[in-house]
Amino acid sequence: MVKIAILGYGTVGSGVYEIIKNENFYEKALNPIGVKYILDIRDFPEHEEKEIFTKDFEQIVNDGEVYCVVETMGGLHPAYEFTKRLLMAGKNVVTSNKELVATYGPELLAIAKEKNVNYLFEASVGGGIPIIKPMCTSLTSNRIEKIVGILNGTTNFILTEMINKGKTFDEALTDAQNKGYAERNPAADVEGHDACRKLAILSSLAWGDYVNYKDIVTEGITEITTKDVMYADKLGFVIKLIGFAKKDGRIFARVAPMLVPKKYPIAGVDGVFNAIIVKGNYLGTSMFYGRGAGKFPTASAVVADVIESVRHINANKAYLEWKEAAPDYMLPASESENRYFAITDTPKDQIESLFGDILTADGENGEYAFVTGVMKERDFTEKAAVTGLTKFIRVLES
Ligand code: HSE
Repeated sequence: MVKIAILGYGTVGSGVYEIIKNENFYEKALNPIGVKYILDIRDFPEHEEKEIFTKDFEQIVNDGEVYCVVETMGGLHPAYEFTKRLLMAGKNVVTSNKELVATYGPELLAIAKEKNVNYLFEASVGGGIPIIKPMCTSLTSNRIEKIVGILNGTTNFILTEMINKGKTFDEALTDAQNKGYAERNPAADVEGHDACRKLAILSSLAWGDYVNYKDIVTEGITEITTKDVMYADKLGFVIKLIGFAKKDGRIFARVAPMLVPKKYPIAGVDGVFNAIIVKGNYLGTSMFYGRGAGKFPTASAVVADVIESVRHINANKAYLEWKEAAPDYMLPASESENRYFAITDTPKDQIESLFGDILTADGENGEYAFVTGVMKERDFTEKAAVTGLTKFIRVLES
């Protein structure tokens, strides 16, 4: 039997334990798999296997029988120190920790390669959706041109509940927390940081250069109001938190709420579901869709990586490597081009004289929403400043 350990018995870690206990993966992994340790700072006196719980990391890292360790602790520290020591000790590590992968991915992947073990992180992006492995295998014949994704289940759930059920932001967030979708600190979800880290991971995989999440311009959904949603609807759009990255010479990446035309398939991605559209030069577009958060969807992706590492015992799959990018690898946000949506009561002829042809949806008391044609963000913000407009939402193009 191949022995594994689980670090962190929270939502995902407990899901991993239950799946491994309930299923027989002998044929898929070519070996039986058993959980030897669970590390957690809390006590679980009622647990059916309370004897396998430990608070001592040294016990795990020094146990030669432990072949693979699941890191579902989340956060950077001590997850980073533990992962590094485990890889250095020649153990495979499987994680759902996007913060850790996005921050220390290059170093941890390099150690895994040197030690001929695997550092696998399918569950770090898109919960249960298979996307990391396709990016590293099935899509490698393509030059990836663009990635567009709904990458955070919590915010998509909140926006959907607000739009379809008229819930307040706070009510919808509490529901998302109760369902186990949200991060320990849900600011990471609603301010876009979680989606930003996931976009950094996907971009690094797509282009082989390490895309530092700190270089990705990120806006969350906290400023989105029901009025925005209502005008967007009148104009034929829904509002979604979108992770967008493209490479045309330099890389451009941004996480922000966007108006998505209702006719686009991604506009229909609701609730906790995520979707990732990848455009390759030969494939064209392909959309990966599924549950982006939650105990068992995410745990199933973790367990699949455990099976992968057990199936290819004592071999580094070597399909992931991120080089250091050139210092100017990222295109500045002001150079990006979009259409823009805003709400105003400035007379339409003034807005048209600034922005040219606009699409409009009328409200009350002279207020209306408009959508511009395509222009550089720098030009839009300069012109918008003339009328005192500071809030705007970009429009997603196909
Ligand atoms: N908080 C994350 C989300 C969990 O809502 O998508 C999955 O990464």
